[in-house]
Amino acid sequence: MPVLQHICQTINETHLSVALRESVWVFPIIETVHVIGITLLVGTIAILDLRLLGLVFRRERVSLIARQVLPVTWTGFAIVMISGVFLFIAEAAQSYTNPAFRWKLLLLLLVGINPLVFHTTVYRKVALWDETLAIPFRARLAGAISLTLWCGIVVAGRAIAYYN
Ligand code: HEM
Repeated sequence: MPVLQHICQTINETHLSVALRESVWVFPIIETVHVIGITLLVGTIAILDLRLLGLVFRRERVSLIARQVLPVTWTGFAIVMISGVFLFIAEAAQSYTNPAFRWKLLLLLLVGINPLVFHTTVYRKVALWDETLAIPFRARLAGAISLTLWCGIVVAGRAIAYYN
C-alpha cells in the first residue's frame, strides 16, 4: 500500500474520523461552514478578478478594491481550510481514491501559484496603471486564470460527493 494511502487509512480509523463520519449533524454543519467560507473566499476573489478584467467597478482603483476585500478573503480562506481539513479527516480513505478530490488539490496548488506570480510581477507596478482604465494584459490574464481555476475548484469540490 502506498505511504500516502496508508496515512489516509490510519486517519480514517481515528476516533475523530469515525465520530465525524457517523455523526448526524456535525458533518453537515462542517460542510455548511465550508460553503460559507467558500462564498467569502471565492466571492471576494471574483470581485477583484472581474475588476482586473474591466467588467466591474471600472472607476474604482484596483489597489483600493484589493485593500478592502483582502481581509474578507483571508477570513474565508481560514474558514475553508479549517473546515476542509475536518471534512477530509471524516473521509480520508475515500478522499485518497476520489478523482474529484485529487483534481481539487491540484487546482488548489495552481491557484496558489497564480497570485504569487501576479503580486511579484505586474502588481508591483500597480501605481503606474491603477488609475487608468487600461489594465495591463498580464493583469487581465491573471484575473482570467484565477476565475477559471476557482470555478474548477468549486466544481471539483461539488463533485467529490458523487465519487465517494
Ligand atoms: C480553499 C478552497 C476550497 C474550496 C473553494 C472548496 C470547495 C468545495 C466545495 C464547493 C465543496 C462541495 C460542498 C457541497 O457539496 O456542499 C467542497 C467539499 C469538500 N471539500 Fe472543499 N474546498 C476548498 C478547500 C478544501 C480543503 C483545503 C480541503 C481538505 C484538505 C477540502 C475538503 C473537502 C471535502 C472532503 C469535501 C467533500 C465533502 C463531501 O463529501 O461532500 N476542501 N469543497
